[in-house]
Amino acid sequence: MIKVGIIGVGTVGSSVAQILKDNADVITARAGVEIVVKSGVVRNLSKDRGLDIKLTDNVDDILDDEEIDIVVELMGGVEEPFKIVQRALKNSKAVVTANKALLAYHRYELQTIAKDIAFEYEASVAGGIPIINALRDGLSANHIESIVGIMNGTCNYMMTKMTNDGIEYDDILKEAQDLGYAEADPLFDVGGYDTAHKLLILASIAYGIDAKPEDILIEGIQNITQDDIAFAKEFGYAIKLLGIAKKDDNEVELRVHACLISKDEMIAKIDGVMNGISVVGDKVGETLYYGAGAGGDATASAVVANIIDIARSGKSTPMLGFDRPLEGKLTLKSTEHISSKYYLRINVSDRAGVLAKITKIFQQNNISIETMLQRPTSSSWANLLISTHTALEKDIQKMIKDIEKLEFVNSTPVMIRIV
Ligand code: NAP
Ligand code: HSE
Repeated sequence: MIKVGIIGVGTVGSSVAQILKDNADVITARAGVEIVVKSGVVRNLSKDRGLDIKLTDNVDDILDDEEIDIVVELMGGVEEPFKIVQRALKNSKAVVTANKALLAYHRYELQTIAKDIAFEYEASVAGGIPIINALRDGLSANHIESIVGIMNGTCNYMMTKMTNDGIEYDDILKEAQDLGYAEADPLFDVGGYDTAHKLLILASIAYGIDAKPEDILIEGIQNITQDDIAFAKEFGYAIKLLGIAKKDDNEVELRVHACLISKDEMIAKIDGVMNGISVVGDKVGETLYYGAGAGGDATASAVVANIIDIARSGKSTPMLGFDRPLEGKLTLKSTEHISSKYYLRINVSDRAGVLAKITKIFQQNNISIETMLQRPTSSSWANLLISTHTALEKDIQKMIKDIEKLEFVNSTPVMIRIV
C-alpha cells in the first residue's frame, strides 16, 4: 500500500482525495498497488471539507510521518512550499505538486535537490492536459521550434464570456473565482503571471532556458474592453491571452500577452475554461493539446496520474527531462527585438488636425498603418482603432510614449499584438 499526505486540501486537494477514493478500482489496477490518503493539512480545521480523511494544521504531521511515501503539495505560494517540499525530499518522500509559482522560481534548484527521488508536476501547466508528459517524453526526440498556448483557464473563461455574452470584466472574474478556476490572488491570472509561470516551466523542458518571470514580457487582459472586442469581431479576430515560446537561431523568445488571432486558427476556437497548446517539433511537425485548464477535478486528474506513476516505479525521469546541457548556446531574446503586427486603441479629442498629427507620429517611428477606424465615444471624443504592419516592439513602445504626451490624447493608448 502507498500512503499519501496532502498539504493543502482546498479546491484541488479535496478533488485529489475524492478521486483516489471514487476511482480506486482503476487506480489500483493501473498502479499495481493500493493508494490511500493518510492525512491532509489545512489552515482552518473547523471548515467541513466533506472528506473522510484525517486533517491537521501542522505540516510536520506529514513530513515526519515515516509511513507517508508521497507528499502532495497543493497549498500554493512560493517560499513556504519551497521549504516544505525540500524537507519532504530530505526525508526521502516523493513529491507531487500543481504549484507553478513555486516551479517558476525554484525548478532548477528542485531538480538538483530531488536527484533520484521522484518529483512530479504535471498539473502545474494547463490543468488536466498531459502537456508536461508530452513535451518531456512523447516529443523528446525533437528540437522544439515553438510552443504557443492558452494556458490560463480563468482568462480564457473571462474573454469568452466578454466576447460571446458582452458581460463586464468584474462580474465575470467573480464567476471564475466561484468556479474554483482563479488563483488565491486573481491578479496572477488576469495579469498574465500565471501563464508566464507555466510558459517558463515548458520553456525549461523544451530549451533548458533558466529564466524567471522578471526576465520576460508579461501583460494581462485588464485593459481589454468591449471596444477592442468589437474591433476584433469586425476584422475577423478573437482575443486570447497567449503564452509564446519560439526558437529563432540561437535565441528563444518568451512572452505572455493578449493577442488578436484570426478566427480561423484552431487556437482561436478554444473557449471557456479550456486550454489549448500547440507544440512544433523539428521532426514531428505541429502537435496540439486541448482540455480543461483549471478546476478541481481536471487538475486533480493530473495530480493523481503523477501519484500512480510514482507508485508504479518509485522513480522519476530527471525532473525537467534532461540531466546535461540541452541546447547549450540558446539565450533569451530581449523584449525590444520582438517583432509583431499591432492593434492600437487611442482615445482622442474629435477635432480637425488630430488624425494628421497621429499618423505623423506613426511615420516618425517607422510604423506603417494597415487599417484604421474611428468610433465616437462621446460628442467630443473618439477612439481611433488602428492596426499596423509588422513592427519592432521597441518602436511601438516609443511611439506609444510619444502619443500619450499629446494634449488631445485622453489616456495611455491600449495596444494588443496581432498573431
Ligand atoms: P485553494 O483552494 O486555496 O486551497 C489551498 C489549500 O491549502 C487550502 O486547503 C488551505 O487551507 C491550504 N493552505 C494554504 N496555506 C496553508 C498553510 N500555510 N498551512 C496549511 N495549509 C495551507 O487552492 P487550489 O485552487 O486548490 O490551488 C492549490 C495549488 O494548485 C496552487 O498552487 C494552485 O496554483 C494550483 N493549481 C490550481 C488549479 C485550480 O484550478 N484551482 C489548477 C492548477 C494548479 P484552508 O482551506 O484552511 O484555507
Ligand atoms: N488559475 C489557473 C487558471 C488555474 O485559471 O488557469 C490552473 O492553473
